[in-house]
Amino acid sequence: MKIWRIVGVVVGVVVLAGVLFTAYALITVTHGGNEQAQQPAAAGDPADLPAQMARGEYLARAADCAACHTTPGGRPFAGGVAFKLPFGTIYSSNITPDKETGIGDWSDDDFVRALHAGVDKEGRPLYPAFPYTSYTALSRDDIVAIKAYLFSLPAVHQAPPPNELSFPYNQRWALGLWSAVFLKKERFQPESGKSEAWNRGAYLATALGHCGECHTPRNVAFAMDESRAFAGSELQGWKAYNITSDKEHGIGDWSEQDLVDYFSKGHAAGRGTASGPMSEVVGYSLQYLTPSDLTALVTYLRDVKPQRGGEPVPPAPVAAQVAAAGGLGEQLFVGACAGCHLDSGQGRQTDYAMLVGLRSVRDPRATNLTQIIINGSSLHVGGQEVFMPSFGDAYSDAEIAALSNYVTSHFGGQQGTLSADDVARRR
Ligand code: HEC
Ligand code: HEC
Ligand code: HEC
Repeated sequence: MKIWRIVGVVVGVVVLAGVLFTAYALITVTHGGNEQAQQPAAAGDPADLPAQMARGEYLARAADCAACHTTPGGRPFAGGVAFKLPFGTIYSSNITPDKETGIGDWSDDDFVRALHAGVDKEGRPLYPAFPYTSYTALSRDDIVAIKAYLFSLPAVHQAPPPNELSFPYNQRWALGLWSAVFLKKERFQPESGKSEAWNRGAYLATALGHCGECHTPRNVAFAMDESRAFAGSELQGWKAYNITSDKEHGIGDWSEQDLVDYFSKGHAAGRGTASGPMSEVVGYSLQYLTPSDLTALVTYLRDVKPQRGGEPVPPAPVAAQVAAAGGLGEQLFVGACAGCHLDSGQGRQTDYAMLVGLRSVRDPRATNLTQIIINGSSLHVGGQEVFMPSFGDAYSDAEIAALSNYVTSHFGGQQGTLSADDVARRR
């Protein structure tokens, strides 16, 4: 009996520690505002900037380090970004070269070990909100280049607030147990039968861009289920859609150009607009990829094993449907939304406000649609802000349900079935 009790405790702790992964799900809570932090250029004249620093700057963008280590309006990489969890709050670390509050006295080996093994300078396990489960695949050279870039920036003397976690979640040793089971400390291995572009794309998507941290379903212990890579998952009330090459469930029927547009501009006509957590991925990271890296990423994604997962995406209507009885939803749309989106859904002034055919308006459960209505969205791209205001405070649950059912039927050709209670649960 005793052995089973021990096994039970171990399994319990592993699962508990896994729950910490929900940390990841809450990243954008603190980023909601219209201000988006920017990643600075490496210090020094670009002409004589050592190549390693410039490469490190590029890699830091591709790995999206700033999204989690810079608070909106705060000093670059000084940390303190809050990750709100059901059982408390943890804060990201200061990764500027300050010797006391940052990582100024870390050696290259210390830094490489943090990204490969998820431990700090003293070897203490780090919370997997820091996505080392993906960074573990990065090459040592790339990690050292990122460090060279970070160390070229000003040191910021600023300690992040102490974590506010209750027992047992404040027990870092439990994380060690979790990663002993679920962290595969393996570097990226190119596949020999595939092209150079494909392999570069695989490295960008898995090791650097950590797309799977949001788009891959998790198992019971909250580890990424690699057998279902990119088959879609949910985080913080948002669907991170299936992005495998399946034509009905994934993005198999997007053209190469659709994908390039989506990643470089945050919008692909008639396909999608990057909102919520994905607007940050585009804003901080993907829009800065070189054309050849973009092509590589797209080459890889279009070849990801097709998987079903989530609901199939219903075919897009060619134009807005004439709603038979729009009722309250139609009234609200005309009053509050048509000014920017037009009744045709084509979008006024900016293509970004085009609604016809987007996945968010074709989902009868309207998951991301309600998130956008409640929280608004902000995308920083090409030096501009594309902004959609939030309506969560302006409308009741019943009004948001009516509005969203109208949008789903009018622009998505689907019967929306959302109730006021559904909206209340999503707030
Ligand atoms: C999704 C959010 C996220 C991303 C992306 C991210 N980090 Fe972090 N990072 C964190 C959090 C949260 C912590 C604190 C973990 C803890 O306290 O256990 C952290 C901790 C660290 C630490 C440990 C510092 C210390 O003093 O112990 C280092 C080093 C680090 N991150 C570097 C990076 C680098 C380099 C990148 C980009 C390649 C990066 N991080 C990307 C969230 C993130
Ligand atoms: C922080 C979580 C997160 C990360 C990391 C992330 N995504 Fe996303 N992604 C999302 C969410 C949420 C959506 C839905 C956005 C919306 O509804 O506007 C999305 C949407 C998409 C879409 C549009 C799918 C559709 O059918 O409309 C594509 C394509 C995509 N992501 C690709 C990627 C790639 C490639 C990466 C890695 C380079 C990546 N994502 C990283 C959360 C994430
Ligand atoms: C001030 C102009 C403006 C108003 C008013 C506005 N929107 Fe938007 N909306 C935008 C812009 C710009 C985008 C694209 C930016 C983004 O998604 O980050 C957008 C995006 C969207 C999307 C697509 C998001 C996605 O990722 O698929 C939906 C759906 C949407 N709006 C619905 C509404 C509804 C419903 C209303 C009324 C309650 C509304 N909008 C009011 C400007 C506006």
